[in-house]
Amino acid sequence: MSDDIPEPQAVCHPITRSAIFLVATVGPEKDHADTVRSWCGDVAALVRAIGTRAPVANLSCVVGFGSDVCERLFGAPRPASLHPFKEVRADDRHAVSTPGDILMHIRADHMDLCFELASQIMEKLDGAVTVVDEVHGFRYFDLRDMVGFVDCTENPSGRAAESFTSVGSEDADFEGGSYVIVQKYLHDLKAWNALPVEKQELIIGRKKLSDVELDASVKPSSSHSSLTTIEEDGKEVKILRHNMVFGRPGSAEFGTYFIGYARTPKPIEQMMDNMFIGRPPGNYDRILDYSRAVTGSLFFVPSAELLDDLADREPSAGK
Ligand code: HEM
Repeated sequence: MSDDIPEPQAVCHPITRSAIFLVATVGPEKDHADTVRSWCGDVAALVRAIGTRAPVANLSCVVGFGSDVCERLFGAPRPASLHPFKEVRADDRHAVSTPGDILMHIRADHMDLCFELASQIMEKLDGAVTVVDEVHGFRYFDLRDMVGFVDCTENPSGRAAESFTSVGSEDADFEGGSYVIVQKYLHDLKAWNALPVEKQELIIGRKKLSDVELDASVKPSSSHSSLTTIEEDGKEVKILRHNMVFGRPGSAEFGTYFIGYARTPKPIEQMMDNMFIGRPPGNYDRILDYSRAVTGSLFFVPSAELLDDLADREPSAGK
């Protein structure tokens, strides 16, 4: 990434052991919007204040904003590719769209730091927002997701991760920003675990124990790894995932929190179409026979610099 591109938020920071995902809506009054706007200028200082006390714990927070609230909070212009989350429906498979004006993706190697930051953030936003979803995620063994496979292996890293996730000159006012889609999945683990491992491996497209990709000669075109491999102009387009598991065994709740960052929403939307509708239609992702999306939202993540500057924005629309 060239030097004159604004510094992104902590989108490409390494995978941590813990995370808290908060999705909130902003109240209808002018005061509510004012509180959120001024909070934008405080986020980095809060992360520094808490993170400095445990420097090796990699505390970070990425903040994103949904389509409905963008102009109201910050005025024009708006990020070129920001729109409401696109639902996908095919047979009984449904990628639902659920409310969300602000996403806070808090990460650290220790849950106490995530918890402290989330508490401080909520104190600042008190009365201005309503949290509509809160998930406390944890690392499961060697980066396994709830269906028992290693997750996030094929993430891009280093400069590739930045170029796949950072808006460039195509939307000059928002350079260094990203788009992020979150979906909370609940699994029918009883049914999944009743499948022979070989069948699970054909559904995912990788070996369960070793995480090695199945050979092309045996990997079905309906496997998760096939349907989420996409190309544009003959080149593979990647996204950056920071999925985490969550759950409450006492209530038989077993989940994977999907979070994918990209330079535009398009590749993630394409992957979702492939999974839910199928490529070609009908050749859908069998993970969905055992997993159900219960949330779905799209957010724009401004660069770190722009997030800080948003505190001083005078939105054109009075509220
Ligand atoms: C039920 C929820 C999901 C589970 C349990 C899951 C699990 C996995 C696993 C185990 C892998 C293989 C290892 C890896 O490369 O990470 C994988 C790969 C991948 N997944 Fe998912 N995933 C889920 C949802 C999604 C969604 C909603 C998307 C995008 C819309 C997605 C995009 C990808 C991509 C891009 C890859 C890498 C494909 C490759 O290059 O081989 N996943 N996922």
